[in-house]
Amino acid sequence: MIKLIIDNIPVEVPEGTTVLEAAQSVDIPIPHFCWHPALGKAGACRVCAVKMLDGPVKGVQMSCMLPAQDGMVVSTTDDEAMAMRKSVIEWLMINHPHDCPVCDEGGECQLQDFTIAGGHGIRRYDGKKRTYNNQYLGEFIEHEMNRCIQCYRCSRFYQEYAGGADFGAMGRAAIVYFGRQDDGPLQSPFSGNLVDICPTGVFTDKTARFRARYWDYDMAPSVCPHCSLGCNTVPMARYRELLKTTARRNDHVNGWFICDKGRFSNAGVNTPERPRQALVDGKPVSLDEALDALATLLGEFLELHGPDSLAIVGSTRMDLAGNIMAARLREMLGAGTLCLFNDTDRAELTGKAVSLLTTENSASQEDVRSADLVVLVGCDLLDEAPMMALAVRQAWRSGARVYAIAPHPALLPEGEGTQPPLSPGERVAEGRVRGPLPFKFEYIASLADVPLAETKRPVIICGTSRQGLEALKNIQSAFALPFTKGGSGGISSSIETANPPQSPFDKGGLQPEPKLAFILDGPNAFGCAELARQHHGVALSAALADGRIKGIISFEADLHHELPQGIAVLAAADWRPTGLVARAGVVLPTTAWVEQEGIYINNEGRAQRFKKVMNPGLPIKGLTPELHPPRVHGIDAPGGDVAPSARLIALLMQRLGEAVVDEPLSGPWKALKDLDATGAGVIINQREQA
Ligand code: FES
Repeated sequence: MIKLIIDNIPVEVPEGTTVLEAAQSVDIPIPHFCWHPALGKAGACRVCAVKMLDGPVKGVQMSCMLPAQDGMVVSTTDDEAMAMRKSVIEWLMINHPHDCPVCDEGGECQLQDFTIAGGHGIRRYDGKKRTYNNQYLGEFIEHEMNRCIQCYRCSRFYQEYAGGADFGAMGRAAIVYFGRQDDGPLQSPFSGNLVDICPTGVFTDKTARFRARYWDYDMAPSVCPHCSLGCNTVPMARYRELLKTTARRNDHVNGWFICDKGRFSNAGVNTPERPRQALVDGKPVSLDEALDALATLLGEFLELHGPDSLAIVGSTRMDLAGNIMAARLREMLGAGTLCLFNDTDRAELTGKAVSLLTTENSASQEDVRSADLVVLVGCDLLDEAPMMALAVRQAWRSGARVYAIAPHPALLPEGEGTQPPLSPGERVAEGRVRGPLPFKFEYIASLADVPLAETKRPVIICGTSRQGLEALKNIQSAFALPFTKGGSGGISSSIETANPPQSPFDKGGLQPEPKLAFILDGPNAFGCAELARQHHGVALSAALADGRIKGIISFEADLHHELPQGIAVLAAADWRPTGLVARAGVVLPTTAWVEQEGIYINNEGRAQRFKKVMNPGLPIKGLTPELHPPRVHGIDAPGGDVAPSARLIALLMQRLGEAVVDEPLSGPWKALKDLDATGAGVIINQREQA
């Protein structure tokens, strides 16, 4: 460890730490623009000046560029260092337009903060400012180059970190332009991170432009629901409208960034098509009346058709509590079939994938970023889990070898069945991402060809597709792991393997066992697989196949296929306008994830809590004038008579004679009750990792 003194405070840091990072480790702030924890140093802005009073280096130095060394005595408040930082800010502000009142970054602008903190309040320069033309960068990101302070964060992120090729720095000397060769949408599926990473307002979120100031937003720590990785986010809303989503740091999961699918897929929460009114046979009723009607309907239905005639359908996009309550409803009724997956294949594959993961072998995104060998099997990373592709890129940039086992179309050489990339707008509209992977890889025929001899941190990333099934078989034989877990108790006993079998990869302890990352289907697919195992759930397609099911009640479920003739949708609870909602006898509008608190369990088995961001109800702004909420005085928000699915099920159970359940997290899930939304999450049998 290196020992130095900063502002009279003794500091101990590992070798390789910079003076700036050493100061941060003891909460001494040093202004910085170009340095970023995920990008490292660039030495471009010169605002991190400190004075080296004693030790191996002397004088005013850039703290982001200087490795901490034994015996250093550093002052961040020395007059000479402060004068230097003040001058740098003044130089940077010479060309800055001083347009904070009309800039969307105002209130969350690092340049604004450090300018004020440095005491620069009066502009002495009265010459002409350097100006640029802005570019059209697509429908999501606004470009305002005059605000640029040339820190190079954007181009370093876009090209180096994310592997984008259509954006960069152009020009020379003091005239540097950060943009594209020509106007046009940014092609990288991670382009939205420019908004977060720019320390001033060059790149702002166009979808929320001029809608709110930072301090106006309702915001809370949340988890992205758009794939199974569980990237951490901060959604921001105003007047019951979800306006934008930003990345939230979690070093084990997404690091500092999120993908564009997670950032820009906010419209579904605000859409006028969203079910917000409880209905019984198409007639508007209160939520209470709808639940009364459903309780009666359910009793009549079971009496008429028998206990085997009902399917209770949960989903991998519903939070953990909702799915737990769906299982409890089935138990309470003593009737019906619990279906948490749509398709038999998907249920089986997800169950097998989850059963292979242990606390030791489950790979986080951080494990992937620091891997020295990555194997991709049967997955389309960019489409199914874009941030995992970004994680693989970081490993590849650090020298990891990446191998792929085709024949998944996404892993085929260009021209062999690959499809052209989608535009940014198509990506969000279709919820799909297609394009070249941001790293180079080699093909191998099977896992047996993986050259493990010199690797220390190998990771295998596997999809839960048909191709993934084959890969799972290979992984099974390679690891000699059983597909089913022993024990019938709680989460811990279900995940841990009592006597892990010897892996053929582990030759006398010389080769490490690869870690595994599965790409699952939905933000709570892991939780659903666990619940299906605990409660003997079956896939809906399997339940329907034997002909006994006559009716279903569904909670936040999507059907991939038409329901067979004669199956009644007794009730559908959802916040999305699905086909099930359209044909349900009883419609129960639910809250979206940003309107409630809940837990998702991500692909590695990490339980993460998300908090309520906004109150439910029709947005006040952003809709067409005809769809503006009624302008009448009232206590409740129009369209706000909705509830989380878990709460709806509890109220239904109460009507059916059960005591109301206020806390669904009981039994094996009890340990998650106190889960902190701002922590790293909990691998479900390792609470100490929180
Ligand atoms: Fe050190 Fe920019 S933060 S030079």
